[in-house]
Amino acid sequence: MEILTPRELQEAFHFVREKVDFPLQVGMVLGSGLGAFTDSMQKAISFPYRDIPHFPISTITGHAGFLHFGFVEGVSVGVMEGRFHYYEGHHPSRVVMGIRLLAALGIRTLIVTNAAGIINESYHPGEFMLIKDHINLTGNNPLIGPSFAEWGDKFVDMSQAYDPHLAQYARQAAHELQISLHEGVYCGLAGPSYETPAEIRMLRLLGADAVGMSTVYEVIVARQLHMRVLGISFLTNFGAGLSPKNLDHGEVLEIAQKEKVKFVALLQNILQKIDSE
Ligand code: HPA
Repeated sequence: MEILTPRELQEAFHFVREKVDFPLQVGMVLGSGLGAFTDSMQKAISFPYRDIPHFPISTITGHAGFLHFGFVEGVSVGVMEGRFHYYEGHHPSRVVMGIRLLAALGIRTLIVTNAAGIINESYHPGEFMLIKDHINLTGNNPLIGPSFAEWGDKFVDMSQAYDPHLAQYARQAAHELQISLHEGVYCGLAGPSYETPAEIRMLRLLGADAVGMSTVYEVIVARQLHMRVLGISFLTNFGAGLSPKNLDHGEVLEIAQKEKVKFVALLQNILQKIDSE
């Protein structure tokens, strides 16, 4: 696992910039099974991750591995269909390479989405949660290692990681569409095994409402780059021990598939609100 270098990022940036010459407003990361959103895009150009210099490859079912550029509701977007996870063996600095690339392309607003397990028992599978704050329990951090001055501060302020204005757009959008949107704390763990029931009980005591294996590194780096961030979890299943069922990735993808229409509508509505700022 080797740290990402500024030279590698520069090469990826030049590769994309040559082909994407229009200004970009919003960056998005689509979580497990949520790639359906890209069907609603008017795509200008798409890059398979394997074509982008130094980009990691996403190896997980449900994570397609494309970087799309185009328009949704008239808003210009850069969309990561599929993300990188720490559990795939990537160095944390490489997990966030896409975020650095989107920022280098001029994007200042980032929407991160994920599939998450439920810890707060008042939530139900198929519902959404606005991420108010997060707990990084992965045991690592994408900013560990050598510092590169051009990447910003080492000691990033995380006291308001999730932007209150964007959160308000999400609340309004959910209200208009009559979609249930909870608000809570997302806890990021390394994975890839799911939690034990004892871990889920512990996370509840720690103040977490939902749990997943992504997002927290992306948000740390987005804040280092002074992007404003909106985070939305799609709640796919009860955490271990909260329901009699065992957990499996197929089920996570299945429920995402079932609810994708709502998810797409929610994101489109939020983008409209960003566009009319
Ligand atoms: N735990 C961790 N990550 C997840 C879960 C879960 O229950 N569901 C979807 N991603």
